[in-house]
Amino acid sequence: MNMLVVGSGGREHAICKALKRSKLLDKLYIASSAVFEEAVDIRYSSYEELARKCKALQIDIVIVGPEAPICDGIADIFRKNKINIIAPTKKWSNLESSKLVAKQLMSHYSINNAPIIKAPTAFPLVLKADGLCGGKGVKIIYSMDELVNQMEKLKEDFPEGAKKIFMEEYLEGEEISLISLWDGKNLLHFPPARDFKRLSLDKNSPNTGGMGSYCPVNLTEVQQDRLDLYKTKLNFMLSDEKADFIGFIYSGLIWAKNDWYVLEYNMRPGDPETQSILNQIDTDFLYILNAAIYQKLNEIKLRLNSGVSATLVVASEGYPENPKDGNMIEYPQDKDIIVHYSGVELKEGTLYSKGGRNLSITTSAGDLDTAFNRLYSYSDKILMDKKYVRRSLPEN
Ligand code: AMP
Ligand code: GLY
Repeated sequence: MNMLVVGSGGREHAICKALKRSKLLDKLYIASSAVFEEAVDIRYSSYEELARKCKALQIDIVIVGPEAPICDGIADIFRKNKINIIAPTKKWSNLESSKLVAKQLMSHYSINNAPIIKAPTAFPLVLKADGLCGGKGVKIIYSMDELVNQMEKLKEDFPEGAKKIFMEEYLEGEEISLISLWDGKNLLHFPPARDFKRLSLDKNSPNTGGMGSYCPVNLTEVQQDRLDLYKTKLNFMLSDEKADFIGFIYSGLIWAKNDWYVLEYNMRPGDPETQSILNQIDTDFLYILNAAIYQKLNEIKLRLNSGVSATLVVASEGYPENPKDGNMIEYPQDKDIIVHYSGVELKEGTLYSKGGRNLSITTSAGDLDTAFNRLYSYSDKILMDKKYVRRSLPEN
């Protein structure tokens, strides 16, 4: 099969590597501007042009990673052109692009989510921009002054994404990312992963796109039971709404008040969760995507590798506020480490940092400590000026 991956970060690099391992793969393309050696780069200036190129190249399935093309409606355009695409339609991307739309739907289906707060009477509380802010639209607020300042800052930094702002109850607990694939009829769940959202262990450090991840997460019996119930509710919601798309749905869940609460939906696989998840599954990923296209996900029995997979993000100093581009990067080969390109560019054969998160490095081991110790010591060997890695697992 010929495959096209849309996107150019670490998640897409992991997808390319997983597809490359498949016996079903013939040619692999990437759109666009990625420097992955696994795939041939396709440039495009509109989704219509990309669709035409897909037809000419006889692409069998397109899979989309980032939220921007999904929210732009790439799936609607490709479906109109009869191209198989793994990405939600524009209508369903609203679950990610509007947190209020998502909350309304969850409430309708009795899915737990943090209650909205009308007036700030107690702190901490959580201030959220309704729309897309590149993972920077959520602020934990500890005082009235901070509330006023952060509201202004959100509106200033994200005039579009923060058109609507709301407050919700602060919940405290363990977080997991449940990534599931919907084929229009069936929902396949990948094992839960954990993402390290904050820049460091310090509670005042900013939220990021994710500084690391691991998969699977050990759950207690009651957490597993409640997760099974949540999965049933999610399945019911999508079926009852006749959700007419083939794509990923990512539930950001927090364990609070003895149950799972949804903090957010993303309509795409997570980054850097995907790097760990795809390393942990032993089932052919292309086989899974093909089953999704034919609405046969119910026939897939996921096989998992033993132990854990872990991913560490190598970022540029200043991330997430102000990362500096253009740092030269050199990394050694190591048979136990998979190096994903998250934000790099290649100039005359040399790799340079571009954007905040530059590499994501993944390994598997029998336990988390071994995995992360290996990743920390490998990250020390990466030659890159002003690099930053988070050297702690989340407390919860
Ligand atoms: P979100 O983009 O909504 O997932 O928020 C990003 C991160 O902010 C989450 O992973 C949580 O760590 C934190 N967060 C979001 N909403 C809440 C909440 N209601 N209570 C506590 N923490 C939250
Ligand atoms: N790691 C969180 C996300 O992909 O949004």
